[in-house]
Order: sequence, then C-alpha cells, then structure tokens
Amino acid sequence: MQKTVAIYPGSFDPITNGHLDIIQRGAKLFDEVIVAVLVNSEKAPLFTSEERVGMIRAILKEHGLAVRVDTFGGLLVTYAQKQKAQVIVRGIRAVSDYEYELQMALMNRRLEPRIETVFMMPSEAYSYLSSRLVREVFKLGGSVEGLVPPLVEKALRAKIKT
Ligand SMILES: Nc1ncnc2c1ncn2[C@@H]1O[C@H](COP(=O)(O)OP(=O)(O)OP(=O)(O)O)[C@@H](O)[C@H]1O
Ligand SMILES: [Mg+2]
Repeated sequence: MQKTVAIYPGSFDPITNGHLDIIQRGAKLFDEVIVAVLVNSEKAPLFTSEERVGMIRAILKEHGLAVRVDTFGGLLVTYAQKQKAQVIVRGIRAVSDYEYELQMALMNRRLEPRIETVFMMPSEAYSYLSSRLVREVFKLGGSVEGLVPPLVEKALRAKIKT
C-alpha cells in the first residue's frame, strides 16, 4: 500500500504550541508528515529560516515525533509534488482563518487536483494563538509561557535582547 505523505507548510516564526498541536494530530493520521518552513516570504521574519528549522527539529525530538523538517520556496504544490505528498495540512483556528484558507486550498486544487488539503482544529486552548501575537506580546514584555515551547521562550529572550 502507498504511504500517505502530508506537508504542513507555514512560516513558523516562531513555532507555537498551536502548530505543535496540529503536528501531533497530523502525525497520528498520516504515515509521514513534513513540516515545511516557507523561506521566501515577503514579510521580514524575526527568526531566520535556519533558526526556525533548528528550533522545530529540537522541539519535535523532545516530543519524540519522527517528523521531517524542511524548507521550501515558490509554489507549495510544486514542492508537494517533489515530495510525492498527497496531502497538505492546514490549521484552522477561528472563522477568520476560513476565507483565506479556502481560497488557498481551492487555488492549490486547481493547480494540482491530486493533492487534497486537510484542515485540522487545534485544542481550544490554542484557537486564538498565532506567531504574530507571540512576537507582539513578547516584544511588549508580556509573558508567552504556555503558548510556545520553553525552547522558543528562550530563543525569544535571546533575540529581543540583541
Ligand atoms: N494556534 C494554531 N492552531 C491551529 N493552527 C494554527 C495555529 N497557528 C497557526 N496555525 C496554522 O498553521 C499553519 C501555518 O501558519 P503560520 O506559520 O502562518 O502561523 P501563524 O501563527 O498564522 O503565523 P503568523 O501570525 O506569522 O501568520 C496555518 O495553516 C495556520 O492556520
Ligand atoms: Mg498566519
């Protein structure tokens, strides 16, 4: 039987407990999950792609998750084809995510009809959590404890001091 390979793409700047929740759920469902860090995003990231990949790898290892971490640029479906993936995993938090995600999923389907987008819901505790919010709260001196893995908290502290 063919293995089901799923790509979980995003900027992960930085990875949050919401992302981790989705990765754990995905890992139960698919034979292989690849966390794909988008590198050529227009926004100037807080963490370099190398820093983001390093953090994600360390955290997944801590959680005993055998999930591949990679970077990609350009069209997601082209990357997914190269990885022989059948599935794109996306997380849906509130209704506000839906419209954009629907648009992306339908465009990706038009570009590559053989790849299905699967939406997954995180635990309610993370349904209002985003990397942007973590970056903002942290920059303003607020606590992000419980929202990101301890390793990310440490990396944020180091980053914002410099
Ligand atoms: N707390 C969360 N719960 C469930 N899914 C999430 C959560 N945060 C992000 N995701 C999903 O993970 C994928 C990658 O998202 P992305 O890297 O843009 O994270 P983000 O938190 O939305 O970051 P940013 O705030 O910088 O846009 C998207 O499908 C996004 O909807
Ligand atoms: Mg986002």
